[in-house]
Amino acid sequence: MDTEIATIPRSEMSKRVRICAASEIKPGQPSKYEVEGEGALAIYLVDERYYATSDVCTHSTASLSDDGELDGHVIECTWHGGRFDIRTGAFLSMPCTVPLKTYEVTVEGGDIFVTLEQAV
Ligand code: FES
Repeated sequence: MDTEIATIPRSEMSKRVRICAASEIKPGQPSKYEVEGEGALAIYLVDERYYATSDVCTHSTASLSDDGELDGHVIECTWHGGRFDIRTGAFLSMPCTVPLKTYEVTVEGGDIFVTLEQAV
């Protein structure tokens, strides 16, 4: 007996949300934006490319845009020294053991959009 597996196109499982004007993001300085249903996101500009992660450190509740220090593609949480790669969300040092959530970023018409994955 054949089993059919329904596949849902990616476009139906994700939603693109406008965050801000690209000009609002300054190089090397994370900016925090609240996104309904998702929480706070940190938006970064490094080497003329934009990145987005969750703004909340996975070790506790520190805001990475308020309490983080960005060095290249690495954000360090100043609360306890945890570090993450903003490109992948990978944790790079203790006490962080959980990756940071990252988001696809697109720039269109001078605005920044992030793609949110939807629960299906
Ligand atoms: S809250 Fe970020 S390292 Fe502890």
